[in-house]
Amino acid sequence: MSKANDLIIRIGGEGGEGIISSGDMIAQAAARSGLEVLTFKTFPAEIRGGYAMYQIRFSHEVILSEGSGFDVLCCFNQEALNNNKSQIAKGSVLIYDFPGGDIAEEQNIEGVHCYPVPMSKIAKEELNTYRSKNMVAMGAISELFSIATKSLRELIQDKFGKKGKEVVEVNFKALDAGSKYAREHLKKTDPFQMDEGKPQKDVMIISGNEAIGLGALLAGVQYFSAYPITPATEVAIFLSKHLPKVNGNLVQAEDEIASLANVIGASYGGVKSMTATSGPGLSLMQELIGMSSMMEVPVVIADVQRGGPSTGLPTKHEQSDLFLAALGSHGDASKVVLSPEGVEDCIYLTVEAFNIAEKYQVPVMVLSDGSLGFRTNSIKKPDPSKIKVVNREKYEPGTNGDKPYERYELTESGISTMSVPGQKGGNYISTGLEHAPSSAPRYSPENRVSMMDKRWGKLDNLEDFVQATEVDDMEGAQLGVIAWGSTIGTAREAVKLARAEGVKVAAIYPKLVWPLPLKALNAFAKKYPKILVPEINKQGQLASILRMKTDMKPISYNIYGGLPFTPKMIVEKIKEVC
Ligand code: COA
Repeated sequence: MSKANDLIIRIGGEGGEGIISSGDMIAQAAARSGLEVLTFKTFPAEIRGGYAMYQIRFSHEVILSEGSGFDVLCCFNQEALNNNKSQIAKGSVLIYDFPGGDIAEEQNIEGVHCYPVPMSKIAKEELNTYRSKNMVAMGAISELFSIATKSLRELIQDKFGKKGKEVVEVNFKALDAGSKYAREHLKKTDPFQMDEGKPQKDVMIISGNEAIGLGALLAGVQYFSAYPITPATEVAIFLSKHLPKVNGNLVQAEDEIASLANVIGASYGGVKSMTATSGPGLSLMQELIGMSSMMEVPVVIADVQRGGPSTGLPTKHEQSDLFLAALGSHGDASKVVLSPEGVEDCIYLTVEAFNIAEKYQVPVMVLSDGSLGFRTNSIKKPDPSKIKVVNREKYEPGTNGDKPYERYELTESGISTMSVPGQKGGNYISTGLEHAPSSAPRYSPENRVSMMDKRWGKLDNLEDFVQATEVDDMEGAQLGVIAWGSTIGTAREAVKLARAEGVKVAAIYPKLVWPLPLKALNAFAKKYPKILVPEINKQGQLASILRMKTDMKPISYNIYGGLPFTPKMIVEKIKEVC
């Protein structure tokens, strides 16, 4: 890849025009040729119509975020051009559908390499299939930036093969027509090339949602139940394909309440169990989250956050379920919330979520988000032999001597053994009612206090068990950034860029976001008097919890327009508050 070893291509057009398919193919082709790839897509809630966008960032080096802006913009229609025009930087490339398409005028933007490609016209007039317009554009892009057409042809076969031979053939023709047009009519003036990388062994390209499913499989999930909801459904789709291979079961429930009830039941029955949802579904699950906390039944809930409240911005990005996940319960329910930074993290943090759920017998949430869920990333294939899997402490019949089995026995660690229904001597009845160590309902003040302390006390040293907080110190810095979730990658890149400009800034990235890793956070705040918390929500949810739980007085930097931060935005804020 020429120019700065880092290239960003953005494709925009109307939902239904195949923007997502085109972007996926470029990303796959680049990953197959050995490049690092990170994608970002945003699309409307409607099945057809509205603005859809797919962005692919390639590099020979590890990519931390979607990046700031783009080098190449490909517009399928006028709306895409209007939405992006103000961001077209000097030196970048504009490819657009002209003449004969939705864009009425030829574009001449000073300092920008403008390439008109009549994609609609070629698709309609030469190929008789408007549907293939996106592949005409792919052909032109592959010719201009040297993307291997062989890979693209294989990907067309993979993607459209199930739609029939004719569909594949017309798309091959469209790809060729686009390449031919670019070869014969466009004079390349820009410096961008997608040089091949070194094809790497054991690399896979996977989305954040799929990675959560993969993490669950690696942790030993045996049961999954969910109700479909954007942007979390892909977790269920992935597991529906792979769970049967490990003799697991998947049930599509009638709603989110039923799905978590199923999961609690399955886990009570002795198998590792999980559900996945998004904000509105997590709201519905609240009562049952409290119940699993009370019953001490391990469950894992992936919450792929989206713009809320209510149906809000169902396909857009937001980090606004932290209050709900951490604090949204009746009573004092003990629970744990982890938040992954990137696709690879979705695998390992989901394993960690199962390990915590099993070890401490609590509900654990994995707080991902729409941008991360839909993001695809080339990552190293996980090695199952290197993954630590924790299983719950099981009741062993006969170990109690003459004493009857006590499901909620008061132990030093707060953790008591779990029997499986039907196990000899291990019978107990678990309900949402407060209970004695035996599990029988009991409401005395002494019992209530000891049981409440048991459920909370077992999490006292969680911070030491999880070790998911990374500190990036900087000597002489006055400012420390605290970022969580998928904002971490953007913050990492911003910190790197700011330091390259001589700005002294430190950072801490907690992935355990409830209960907060207070030892690490307080130690960090002692070193850096000013704290900046960039978050994608209106209220500054992490910053508020930090104010509640520590002496910090963080400076909140909140955006809530449905898009992630760019590294540039955070760099500017760092400089402003430094
Ligand atoms: N030849 C044949 N078929 C093609 C094609 C081509 N050249 N290019 C694309 N297609 C097909 C795709 O295979 C896909 O078909 P499928 O639905 O059978 O998989 C379809 O056309 C759409 O193309 P795709 O590239 O996947 O998406 P797009 O960029 O056109 O955007 C979406 C459409 C994804 C934005 C829209 O359909 C969608 O799903 N919106 C979100 C809905 C939602 O989640 N709402 C929230 C509810 S709460």
